[in-house]
Amino acid sequence: MSNIAILEIDGKKYEFPIVKGTENEIAIDIKTLRSVTGGITTLDPGYKNTSSCESEVTFLDGEKGILRYRGYSIEELADKSDFLEVAYLLIFGELPSKEQNEKFHRDIQKTALVDEDVKKILDGFPKTAHPMGVLSALTSALTAFNPKSVNVSSEEDMYKAIVKILGKFPVLAAWTYRKGEGLPLEYGDNSLGYTENFLKMMFALPNERYVSNPVIVEALDKLLILHADHEQNCSTSTVRIVGSSHAGLFASLSAGISALWGPLHGGANQAVIEMLEAIKEDGGDYQKYIEKAKDKDDPFRLMGFGHRVYKNFDPRAKIIKVAAEEVLNDLGIDDPVLDIAKGLAEVALNDEYFKSRNLYPNVDFYSGIIYRALGIPTPMFTVMFALGRLPGWIAQWREMRLRKEPIGRPRQLYVGATERLFVKEENR
Ligand code: SDX
Repeated sequence: MSNIAILEIDGKKYEFPIVKGTENEIAIDIKTLRSVTGGITTLDPGYKNTSSCESEVTFLDGEKGILRYRGYSIEELADKSDFLEVAYLLIFGELPSKEQNEKFHRDIQKTALVDEDVKKILDGFPKTAHPMGVLSALTSALTAFNPKSVNVSSEEDMYKAIVKILGKFPVLAAWTYRKGEGLPLEYGDNSLGYTENFLKMMFALPNERYVSNPVIVEALDKLLILHADHEQNCSTSTVRIVGSSHAGLFASLSAGISALWGPLHGGANQAVIEMLEAIKEDGGDYQKYIEKAKDKDDPFRLMGFGHRVYKNFDPRAKIIKVAAEEVLNDLGIDDPVLDIAKGLAEVALNDEYFKSRNLYPNVDFYSGIIYRALGIPTPMFTVMFALGRLPGWIAQWREMRLRKEPIGRPRQLYVGATERLFVKEENR
């Protein structure tokens, strides 16, 4: 293949380099487009055809349903690793040695206390506040208690900020839940693993001895691994663009939480369960909802279906579907919503509308069924997604800053009013 792309406009030819990634993906490098053509740009709403950066963190192949973190397949990591080790891999690029892993966990634990004044901020929220709004606010509030922004040229400074947010975020997430339930705010127990400790902070009761359930710990740890990164999705791109103005890490993460909240993105896991519950209440007639999803005049979409990149099965959905069946079985739970989900997927996967658009179950389709089995309430599902995605956001933010990426500032195609003169009120 030639390494030059030629663009011809009004008989004039412009050449642009063709660049190739390590997985043989091809991109046209148009960094000089505006300057060499006198102001011409490309138009690409939703950036469906645009690579915003070069990255070494995560590789996706949407056609083949491949997902790898720093070269390791999601299947292997979900099966053989644990969430904190995967967090280290995503952020620092290599699987940690035993010593590195133990130091990483210890350093995180040392930062896991949150300033008592943060509780006053939490107190200001009504119990009914959506936990994603609370979590985004509390994460942003951390900047008030850690005003010195990260000195990215210092590896040590960056490391300290990273372990600090990895230590405090699970506390904030658990407190967000407990606020909604009217429970006292608990700290965990540093003798426990990262995920086990989070579950203790969520569910421990002051008047009962807390006992971990290994099935629940393992299931959540696997879900956190599966959600840990996903290249340049909406919330990660948000974290990157906010960080590109040299706003701090915590402020960038707070913005990412807000982007993830949307029902077209991470908020879909909550919307899926609400949809499945509605179908159950409606007599389990999922064909009716398939028809609604296909009706262009009906705003209803089959939540948990479709993906911007995967035009094949989302590899994470495949793993989560199996895990859902195992967890329900291990916990002796018979959740009719799982059967509705499987029936709905079966019908949709054989329906021309979905097949012709390559719409498959995505990461959000089955995850809520597991969260529910773990005792996590629906409004907290997207908080679980954020807890999982935290290391990916950190890894991508760190990469963007270390590569000294320019401030994100896309152009536009102006289609508004051309110049016109002001008209006095009496003449309008
Ligand atoms: C996540 O990007 C990531 O990596 C995200 C994520 C991550 O890990 O970060 O994977 C997490 O966000 C997963 C997606 C969760 N969202 C949902 O499940 C919400 C339901 N799905 C969609 O709304 C939709 O599929 C998107 C938003 C996920 C993708 O939308 P695109 O790529 O912009 O596709 P589109 O809206 O242009 O749809 C193409 C066609 C359209 O029909 P036509 O105009 O061609 O006739 O497919 C139709 C759409 O109407 N379509 C759906 C549909 N999804 C797409 N029709 C019914 N139900 C759906 N779910």
